[in-house]
Amino acid sequence: MYLQLPEKVTIIEVGPRDGLQNEKVFISTEIKKQFISGLQSSGLKEMELTSFVSPKWVPQMSDAAEIVSDCLDPSIRSIVLAPNRKGIDRLYMTDCQSVAVFVGVSNTFNRKNINKSTEDSMAELRPIIKELKEKGYFVRACISTAFYCPYEGKIEPADTIKLCRQFVEAGADELSVADTIGMAAPTEAYSLFFMLKNAFPQVLITAHYHDTRKLALANILASLQAGVDRFDTSAGGLGGCPFAPGAAGNAATEDVVYLLERMGIQTGVDLAKLVSAIDIVRPHLTRTIDSAYYQLNTQTV
Ligand code: HMG
Ligand code: MG
Repeated sequence: MYLQLPEKVTIIEVGPRDGLQNEKVFISTEIKKQFISGLQSSGLKEMELTSFVSPKWVPQMSDAAEIVSDCLDPSIRSIVLAPNRKGIDRLYMTDCQSVAVFVGVSNTFNRKNINKSTEDSMAELRPIIKELKEKGYFVRACISTAFYCPYEGKIEPADTIKLCRQFVEAGADELSVADTIGMAAPTEAYSLFFMLKNAFPQVLITAHYHDTRKLALANILASLQAGVDRFDTSAGGLGGCPFAPGAAGNAATEDVVYLLERMGIQTGVDLAKLVSAIDIVRPHLTRTIDSAYYQLNTQTV
């Protein structure tokens, strides 16, 4: 008997967005561009570049317009986050064709993150998604606090599925379902993704794990068993939401690629080039890179 595994997996690199948004010291736009360029050359096919959010709320993303204008690569699905109409209007001023909207299942988290209730966010986003689809955009819906919330505690799977259904009915192409504070157990990961894969066969289903309790790789293995073949990961394991206290970085792209490739699953990502991309941004970070693959393959050991 063997594990049930896909032949290949799509990695959605979120390092330039989730990875950097939580960095307290502003990283120059030039370094961000070089980091993105390094990631683009490593074989990744989908990437979140930045966010059109309020620069007052997330100053690190204040250079989003320049990043988008200079970093689009036609061979890669480049995604930009936008929380509201203003973000979408900023998107329309660019050539970017893919957008990620984001809402928390937890009302309290959503208020802290977007200053609206979950219901009000959906009311604003429904017509926006319809409009985006009419214009031919790819729409990714990021579902935060799908398992646990830093303010409300455990989230019922039924509530997560309900929000996912609202996005699917609104016309989203992809659900990126997030363990925002890295608290899900592999049993919970398997169970939720099994239900989501069965409930929504018509959309792409992606898992987004923060590695706060070092469970991300275990959760990825459990998600693979549930049929998930798309994972959001962040080069260097950077990341965390500024409005989710206690959230550590995302699953590190290099550790996830190593895990998958060791199991014979193709990712198309060149690990040496990935490490070179991390080396570009590392000196400008306030944190260290502690992913196992990076540590074992650089002189930081
Ligand atoms: P607000 O203060 O309620 O908004 O913030 P407002 O409409 O009252 O506007 C306030 C000011 O922001 C105004 O400027 C607006 O023009 C401006 P002022 O007149 O004072 O100079 N503004 C904007 N500027 C640029 N782009 C915009 C925009 N909207 C308003 N789109 C708002 C509401 C949603 C803007 C704010 O709460 C916000 O920016 N939140 C984003 C927070 C964020 O980026 N969080 C991290 C990303 S989500 C995440 O990490 C989770 C994820 O990884 C999955 C997971 O792990 O869970 C995806
Ligand atoms: Mg995240």
